[in-house]
Amino acid sequence: MVSHDPGTMLSIGDFAARAGVSTSALRYYESLELIHSERTGGNQRRYRRAELRRVAFIRAAQSIGLSLDEIKASLDRLPEGRIPDRADWRRLSTEWSRRIEERIAHLRNLQEELDGCIGCGCLSISRCAIYNLSDKVAEEGAGPRLGFQAE
Ligand code: FES
Repeated sequence: MVSHDPGTMLSIGDFAARAGVSTSALRYYESLELIHSERTGGNQRRYRRAELRRVAFIRAAQSIGLSLDEIKASLDRLPEGRIPDRADWRRLSTEWSRRIEERIAHLRNLQEELDGCIGCGCLSISRCAIYNLSDKVAEEGAGPRLGFQAE
């Protein structure tokens, strides 16, 4: 393990304040191995400042609708032992751009299908896009699919 100057390490409270997330969210992210901490002799969490960038990445990815599994897959490709460089972030944001374009195309298709429902109210099993919405979303796999919401 790399040794770090204790002065550059942040307590969970300070880290949460700087990252703009709750301490419970940090513990959850850590349980999923999205972020990492080290422990003091008293078993308290200490975070390297570089982990702030990982939290920023997680929040940004969540805001465009990526699942935590997808976010983890992206983060697992980043180097844990050093601060991710500009090229790392550029590569990942390029991947996001493709995902956003796919999602926009999907939502446009869905909007076109739903246009036929406005004012109809039949909820026909065979032809209603609203009625069959859950089936269409399920085809894309598990996890959040339609939202652009942050946690
Ligand atoms: S409500 Fe009639 S087609 Fe959707």
